[in-house]
Amino acid sequence: MQLVQAGPASIERVLQINLWAGRHPWPESALRRALQASEVLLANVDGAKVGFLVSQPVLDETTLMHLAVAREYQRQGWGRQMMQGWLAQQRSSGQQRLLLEVRRSNQAAISLYRSLGFDTLGQRRGYYVTTDGVEDALVMALDLSPDESAYR
Ligand SMILES: CC(C)(COP(=O)(O)OP(=O)(O)OC[C@H]1O[C@@H](n2cnc3c(N)ncnc32)[C@H](O)[C@@H]1OP(=O)(O)O)[C@@H](O)C(=O)NCCC(=O)NCCS
Repeated sequence: MQLVQAGPASIERVLQINLWAGRHPWPESALRRALQASEVLLANVDGAKVGFLVSQPVLDETTLMHLAVAREYQRQGWGRQMMQGWLAQQRSSGQQRLLLEVRRSNQAAISLYRSLGFDTLGQRRGYYVTTDGVEDALVMALDLSPDESAYR
């Protein structure tokens, strides 16, 4: 699997993956802006684009904004490989801390992030708007240092 930076020309595939990945797709306008800003990495497996992630660096911290694997490719280890590739890129570019927010109900993603060493820092109450109300976000973080393994 290769993680390659995606530009605006990848919008159609990114939108497809986004819509097919789960119940909470990212807004199309946010994806278009992220592609323009070179914040999107596409996962390429033998020519197939199986997923994407969006991240934003600020000084020595990077926030994972979104991660999605197309439904037909889920539960085959691609999400984990994408995260591991991204972690390696962040470490080699000298980032010190990774942050993310995730819906409290998203057990699949929470379990993946925990297994990679992310800890829960806290929560943001009512952070996400849902069809029948609001949902809390967990704020998770992983401290990177040159001699610390990110994998547990
Ligand atoms: C979360 C997501 C990216 C995981 O991608 P994936 O390729 O299916 O995940 P993997 O096959 O690499 O699995 C990695 C780990 O995730 C967890 N996981 C993945 N799917 C799961 C599920 N349906 N139920 C429980 N745990 C799950 C497990 O811990 C798994 O490790 P294991 O295989 O050793 O049990 C994918 O489900 C997805 O795109 N979901 C919709 C979008 C989303 O919620 N993104 C996160 C936003 S913060």
